[in-house]
Amino acid sequence: MKPTSYELTQAGDRYFDGLVDKFSRSLYQAPRGELRLAMLDYLLPQMLDLREQKVLDVGGGLGQQAAWLAEQGHNVTMAEPSDDMLNYAKAWHRDAKTLPESAITYLQAPLQVLTVQAPGPWPLITCHAVLEWLGDPQTALATLSQLMAPGGQLSLMVFNRDALRFSNAVKGNLEKALSDRLAGQGKRQRLTPISPVSHAEIEQWSAANGLRIDAVAGIRVFQDYLRQPPATPAENATLLALEKHYCRQDPHWRLGRYLLYTLIKPEAAE
Ligand SMILES: C[S@@+](CC[C@H](N)C(=O)[O-])C[C@H]1O[C@@H](n2cnc3c(N)ncnc32)[C@H](O)[C@@H]1O
Repeated sequence: MKPTSYELTQAGDRYFDGLVDKFSRSLYQAPRGELRLAMLDYLLPQMLDLREQKVLDVGGGLGQQAAWLAEQGHNVTMAEPSDDMLNYAKAWHRDAKTLPESAITYLQAPLQVLTVQAPGPWPLITCHAVLEWLGDPQTALATLSQLMAPGGQLSLMVFNRDALRFSNAVKGNLEKALSDRLAGQGKRQRLTPISPVSHAEIEQWSAANGLRIDAVAGIRVFQDYLRQPPATPAENATLLALEKHYCRQDPHWRLGRYLLYTLIKPEAAE
């Protein structure tokens, strides 16, 4: 077995090798992961024009998004640089009886090489919770834009720097919030992102790449700030209803733990 490395790559990115257990336990087997998936299931059909297009899922992780897209009838290429994550996704997809056979193609590759290895151009790209794990998220958005077909859509989800400041303050980390020392270091098994992103940055970077923000929502607007987590299925259902009600309303979406965007690359003639 190869030794687990928790180092950043030369580009300053954090591949999730060695993090499968920690990531699946602390996110997807926990209420926050369930809520994230429930919100994506609710929002993606509203925010995207889904017509069974070919999709590139960049930094696909454990493969939930790829599976969801395949179930909706899309042909998915899931790109992921981490061997561990990709193997987990392949095994899980293989065992899931609901997935159409060969609907998902796997590519072990980081975002930075996709213009060569999977140039598309793609009518639909999903890139969820990846930019905040990169040394240079701004250049990554330029690369995603190059991969998009004219008229194509990018579903981009980023870890919200402004919400991270707010939650640090709520937890009593006032000095940290005031000095804006919010980013994680990517050391060991820590899951605090190294490059949290603000809405202002997404606005600037999208404009710089000629991408139009078509829709935006906050994911987990309330959950992280609750003093008492829901204790019963009925309370969970009420929280989900609350999240759904306010996720696209100003000012609430702005403090979502994650920000979810639909970015459009204009047709050449637009
Ligand atoms: C927080 S996980 C998100 C996984 C999945 N998209 C989701 O929403 O659950 C971040 C993923 O980005 C991957 N990653 C790190 N650096 C990357 C890069 N340069 N290109 C593509 N993916 C990268 C990691 O290996 C990890 O699987």
